Amino acid sequence: MDTDRLLGELSEFLRIPSISTLSAHDADCRAAAEWVATELRRLGCREVAFLGSDTHPVVWGVGPEVPGAPTLLLYGHYDVQPPDPLSEWTTPPFEPSVRGGKLFARGSADDKGQVFCLLKAIESLGRPPLNFRFLIEGEEESGSTVLFSLLRQEPERTSADAVLVADMAYVAPAWPTVYTALRGVCYAEITVRTAQSDLHSGEYGGAAPNAHEVLLRLLGRLKTEDGKIHVPGFYAAVKRPSRAELAAWKRLPFRESEFLKNRVQAKALTGLKRYSVLERLWALPTFEIHGVVGGFTGQGAKTVIPAVATAKVSLRLVPDQKLKTVQRQLAAAVKRLAPRYATVTVRFLHGADPGQIRLGDPAFGLLDRAFREVVGRGTVPARSGGSVPVVPALGRSGAPVLLTGIGLPDDRLHAPNEKLDLKQLWNGIRVFRRFYELLGAAR
Ligand code: BES
Ligand code: MN
Ligand code: MN
Repeated sequence: MDTDRLLGELSEFLRIPSISTLSAHDADCRAAAEWVATELRRLGCREVAFLGSDTHPVVWGVGPEVPGAPTLLLYGHYDVQPPDPLSEWTTPPFEPSVRGGKLFARGSADDKGQVFCLLKAIESLGRPPLNFRFLIEGEEESGSTVLFSLLRQEPERTSADAVLVADMAYVAPAWPTVYTALRGVCYAEITVRTAQSDLHSGEYGGAAPNAHEVLLRLLGRLKTEDGKIHVPGFYAAVKRPSRAELAAWKRLPFRESEFLKNRVQAKALTGLKRYSVLERLWALPTFEIHGVVGGFTGQGAKTVIPAVATAKVSLRLVPDQKLKTVQRQLAAAVKRLAPRYATVTVRFLHGADPGQIRLGDPAFGLLDRAFREVVGRGTVPARSGGSVPVVPALGRSGAPVLLTGIGLPDDRLHAPNEKLDLKQLWNGIRVFRRFYELLGAAR
C-alpha cells in the first residue's frame, strides 16, 4: 500500500473545514462534496450527481456495472462538527498532523477517514467486484434534512443487496464491532420569556420574574439528580434488552472503573444506578443540557434581570421510542412545568428515530470473516449510544445494514484533538477490500 500517497490524499480531504452546522462554512461543505465526487469519478462511476442542495448536496454515485454481481450501497458523511474550543487543540483542527502513529484532525475518525477507507478499498481492487452505489451526505452532523427528504421522494435510491455504513468504532482496541442498535435523538431549544425587556435588578429585584431562574428551575425538574427524566410517558415505549443481549454485553472487554478513569476522566459516573453502565449508554434514553444562553455573561458585573433565556437540550431515544411521540411529550412536559407568568416555547431543531438491526443476513458473516482475516478477530455485536439519523431509512427496503467502523473508543469525536490511528486506517482499507471480494464471490 502506498501509504504516503494515501495520507496525502486524506489530508487534502481533512483540510476542508466542512462544518455543516455553521452557515459560514457552506462553501467548504460544497468543496468537500466536490472532493468526494472527484474520487467517485476516479473510481469509474457511470453516474455522479449532487442531490438535494447546492451547499450540502448528497453525493450520489453509481459504480461500473458488474453483471451478475450483488449491489452494495456505501453510506458515509463528509461534514464535520465545529472544532471549538480551538485553544485545546495541540495542532490546528484543519491542519492534519501525524504524531505517534495517529492522524490528528477534525473529521479524521468521524467520518472522512472512514469514507476514505470505503473508497480506497475499491481503488485497491482495480476492477470492482460489486455493483456499487454511493450515498455520501453533508448534513449528518446537523440532522440529515436533505437526505431524509431525498429518500422520502426517491426511496429506490437505497435498493441494494446490502448497505455498508462505516461511521462507528471498535468497542475496544482489537475488537471489531457490528452494531445492532443506535440511539435516536430529539434536539430542542427551550426559550423562556418573562418580561418585555431586561430590568434593573435593584429597581425591580424582589418583585419581577427572572427568565434564567425560571429556565434553570424547569431544567432541574425535567431531570433529577438520580438520573430520572420527568417527561410523562417518556419511558413507556422503552424496551429492555433481552437476557441474551445483556449476557453478551457482560462478555465484552468493558470495565466500568476503566471507563470512568480513562475515558470519562471524571470523579464519578452518574445516571440511573440500578442499571449497568452499558445499559445506561446503549439501552436507556437520556436528557442532556448542551448550553444555556441569555442575560449577562460579559466581562465584569452588570446588575440586570434577564427577560429571556434559552437552553439547547437533547434527548437520546432507544428502541422502541418514537421521535414524534417524544417531541409531543417534551413539549407537554415543558408546558406543564412552566409558571403561569412565563412564556415558554420549545423549538425542535432536528431529530431521528432509534435504529435496530437484526444480524441474520449472510453478509454479516462475510464482514465477520473479513475482519477475522485482516485483524485476527471477528466482529462482536454491540449497540451504540450515538446516532446516525438516516440508518433506519437506509434499511427500509429490507436490505441488511452493516453498521460498523474502524474508529477506536478514544478517538475524541466532536472534541478537541480528534484522531484516527493509522493502523486502523490501513487495516480498514484491507478489511473493506476483503469484504467486497467476499461479497462479490457470494453471488
Ligand atoms: N459517527 C457519529 C455517531 C457515533 C457516535 C458513532 C459515537 C459511534 C460513537 C455521528 O457522526 C454523530 O455524531 N451523529 C450525531 C447525530 C446528531 C447530530 C443528529 C450524534 O450522535 O450526535
Ligand atoms: Mn459520524
Ligand atoms: Mn459525528
